[in-house]
Order: sequence, then structure tokens, then C-alpha cells
Amino acid sequence: MDFHNGFSGVFHKYSLSFFLRSLRTRLFLLVFLTGVAACLVVHFVILENYEARAISLRTSEVQTQTRILADHLITYGYLQDTSNEIVNAELTLLANLYDGRVMIINDNLNIIRDTYGISEKRTIISEEVVKCLRKGNDGTTSVYDANNGYIEITTPIIKNASSGGDDSGENKVQGVILISVSTEYISTTLSILGSKARTIELIIIIVLFAFSIIMASVLLRPFDRITSAINELKAGYSDEEISVPDYIETQHIVTAFNQLRARMKALDDSRQEFVSNVSHELKTPITSMKVLADTLMAQPDSPIEMYQDFMQDISSEVDREAQIIDDLLALVKMDKTATELKLSNVDINEMTENILRRLRPIARKNNIELTFDSRRSVTAQIDEVKLSLAIMNLVENAIKYNRDQGWVKVILDADHQNFILTISDSGIGIPEDSIELIFNRFYRVDKSRSREIGGTGLGLSITRSVILMHRGTIDVASTLGEGTTFTVKVPLSYVKG
Ligand SMILES: Nc1ncnc2c1ncn2[C@@H]1O[C@H](COP(=O)(O)OP(=O)(O)OP(=O)(O)O)[C@@H](O)[C@H]1O
Ligand SMILES: [Mg+2]
Repeated sequence: MDFHNGFSGVFHKYSLSFFLRSLRTRLFLLVFLTGVAACLVVHFVILENYEARAISLRTSEVQTQTRILADHLITYGYLQDTSNEIVNAELTLLANLYDGRVMIINDNLNIIRDTYGISEKRTIISEEVVKCLRKGNDGTTSVYDANNGYIEITTPIIKNASSGGDDSGENKVQGVILISVSTEYISTTLSILGSKARTIELIIIIVLFAFSIIMASVLLRPFDRITSAINELKAGYSDEEISVPDYIETQHIVTAFNQLRARMKALDDSRQEFVSNVSHELKTPITSMKVLADTLMAQPDSPIEMYQDFMQDISSEVDREAQIIDDLLALVKMDKTATELKLSNVDINEMTENILRRLRPIARKNNIELTFDSRRSVTAQIDEVKLSLAIMNLVENAIKYNRDQGWVKVILDADHQNFILTISDSGIGIPEDSIELIFNRFYRVDKSRSREIGGTGLGLSITRSVILMHRGTIDVASTLGEGTTFTVKVPLSYVKG
């Protein structure tokens, strides 16, 4: 059984405290000790009860007998004359029956009869006897001496007023019967019961021990299963979701684990996709360069114009390759320095003006009207380099994906917590089913057009990660053929969290 292996392993390798830290050990101890405690309680309660009950039964039985005897003593006038055979026989019988000793005492405290025959004619001074003489029926006493194993019972011998013709109207105590009854049979029974109980308890404890071990092992098996399922996953044997539905608790662990796994898988998938996209993007310019070069080599006597033309193309492919690498590096750097924003108080109006100034030449080239509408003067705590890059990407897109004679409008506004930059254009717009995807790395709506323009599809992904680093938000609204509006909201002061 794996329980044993587990245990002995733990024993050899680790200390007792480690051993006690095991839930399995604790469960075992809990079941086992509870069982043993219950067993002991039952043992003592039953034996104690038995003893008390046996004593009280015997006492009342003997008391009944002595009361009958007391009546006989009066009837036969035994207190005056102890030679009555019938009564003597009765006394002997009683003594034998209870393996005890009967003494008859008269009202002068003289022992007139002793079934042991050793104390006759002596005077007895015993508290119980005196009390019994004085109090009559109320003086009936019984004392249990557990150490010496007997019960001592005193019963008054009362001459009934009516039966005796005494006109005093009172019951007169004429003597006392003192009887000692052996309780040996009770202690014998007790010890027999005790030893039987001990045997049964021993069996119960052994069974309980085995039961606790099995219980602890069985109850905790689902946890082992979780561990081994996770280990299997770790080793890569299986790709399925773990399912250990035995307990609500294990179900919770497993659900949490599966969610974690799903997230890691999603991350892994996106990383793989990223890598394959990168390789693809990097290969495309190289492929075109190879085609161009091969064409030239295949025609050694082509005119110089053709060479120049092709070289021009090759040069622009090299530029493109360099651009992709730059963007990738920017992206990687963004991931690495995600927590290292170089924050400072920046005049956002000034920053936006600078960005627009740098983009104005491209806008002019494309006949795009570029306007800036600053509704408020805003200073915010941001990383200027990174956020400039983000805004620049947005404005650049607005210019690139525009129509001839179009416009790009940048509006800066603020509330008490955030500043809001909206970049609207009169451009081609984004199809509804692409809106969700444009922030993905390398995603471009129209690959051919983007290539023409020189885009790699990394711009928006960089933009979004910068804005998220600033704990800001970016939203996009677009109508195909009419234009697009990006809304960027960034907290005025950086919120840690
Ligand atoms: N203002 C816009 N109007 C229309 N389409 C846009 C706009 N901005 C982005 N897009 C679409 O989203 C895609 C992704 O944009 P992103 O800036 O990430 O890449 P890119 O501009 O193609 O390349 P890069 O910015 O890396 O040079 C673009 O290819 C384009 O199809
Ligand atoms: Mg772009």
C-alpha cells in the first residue's frame, strides 16, 4: 500500500515535525485517537455502572431478606431465647447464601448470635448499630467497603405496636440485625468483564489502527492524484485538462490549476505565433531581395537602368527589414522595462505639438491637413519618450491610412483625473471584424496596402502596451470609408498598483 511507502520514506528522510505536518498523519491520528478515546470512555462507564448497579441490587435483596428475618425473630421471640432451631437454620442459610456473617444484637448492644460464633456475648459499639437502635426504620444503613469486598447492612428488629399488644402506640426497636455480605462475586465478575473488555478493546484498537491508516490513505488519495496529474502534465505526457472531482476542495484546486494552465497555454500560443510571425516578416524582404538579385544575375547584360532600378528596390527592402527589426527591438524593450517607467512631469500640449511637427512633412506629402485642438493646458506624470512613441504611432497611422486631401484632427482635453487625446481621421476606416485585432502584433487589415505604405503591424501593439503601462486606456471607433477615431485616456498622475 502506498501509505506505507509514503510513511517509511517520510520517517527516514525527515524529522518528526515534518511527519506531523503531513495531513495524512493528522487524519490518521484524528481517527485513531478519537476511536481509542471513545473505546476507553465506554469501557470505564460500563464497568463503573455495572459495579454500582450490582452493589445496589445486592443491597436491596439482602435488605428484603433481613426484614423478613427481623419479623421472624420477633415472632419466635428469638431475642429472648436463641435456641429456636428454625430461626437458627434460617440464619445459617442466610449467611451461607450470601457468603457472609449475620449478627443479632439486642437493645443492650450485646451480640446474642453470631453465625461465625466468635463474638457472641460481647458488646458491640458501632455507630451504625447505635443509630439503627435509636432511629428504628430510618436507621437502616448499608455501607459498601470496596477495599475489603463486603457490604455491611444494619436492619432494626421492631416489635410492631399493633401485633405486640403494646398500647404505647409506638414501634419499639428491640435489636439490630447486622449482616456483612461478601461482594467477591462482583469483583470477580468485574475482573472477568474487565479482561474480556480489554481483549475486545485490543482487537478494536488494532482494527482501528488499520482502519485509520486506510482511511487516511483513501481520503487523501485525490490529492495524490492531483499531484501526479500535475507531474504528468509537467513531464508533458498528457495535454488534457486535469479532472479530480472527488471533493469540492480538490475540484477547486483543479479548476484553479486548469485556468492557470489555460492562461499559460494562451501565452505560449501567442509567443509561438509571435515567433512565427517575426520569422515570416523578416523573411519576406529577404525573399524579395533574393528574387531581385537572382534576376539580375540571370541577365548579366541587362542595362544599367535596370540595375539601378533593382538596386533601388533592394535598398528599400533593406530599409524595411531594418524597420521591422527596430520595431521588434522597441517591443521587446517595452516588455522588459514594463515596470521601469521614467516618470516626469511633462507638458502634454508641448509634447503633442512636437509630435505633430515631426509628422507634418509626411502629412504634407500625402496632402493631409493636420490640426491640433488643445482645449486645456495639461501637465501629467508620464514617461515622455515612451508615450511620445505611442501617440506618434497613432497620428502616423491616421496619416498613412487616409485618403487624398484628407484631414487628421488631434484634440487634447482633460478632466480632473485623466487627460484625453483623440486622434480622428477622414481615412479608409477599419472593418468591424478587424477592430478587435488591430492591436495584435503584425496584424494589418490590408497586407498589400500596408506593405506599400511600409507598415509592419507592430505600431498599435507598441502603442497599446505603452498606454497600459501608464494605466491608461485606448479605444477605437471606426466607420469603413469614413474615418477612424482613437481615444487615449491617461491618468494625470501615475497610479501605482
Ligand atoms: N487610423 C487608421 N485608419 C485605418 N486603419 C488603421 C488605422 N490605424 C491602424 N489601422 C489598421 O491597423 C493595422 C495595424 O496598425 P499598426 O500601426 O499596428 O501597423 P502598421 O501601421 O501597419 O505598421 P507599423 O505601425 O508597425 O509601421 C494597420 O495595418 C491598418 O490596417
Ligand atoms: Mg502604424
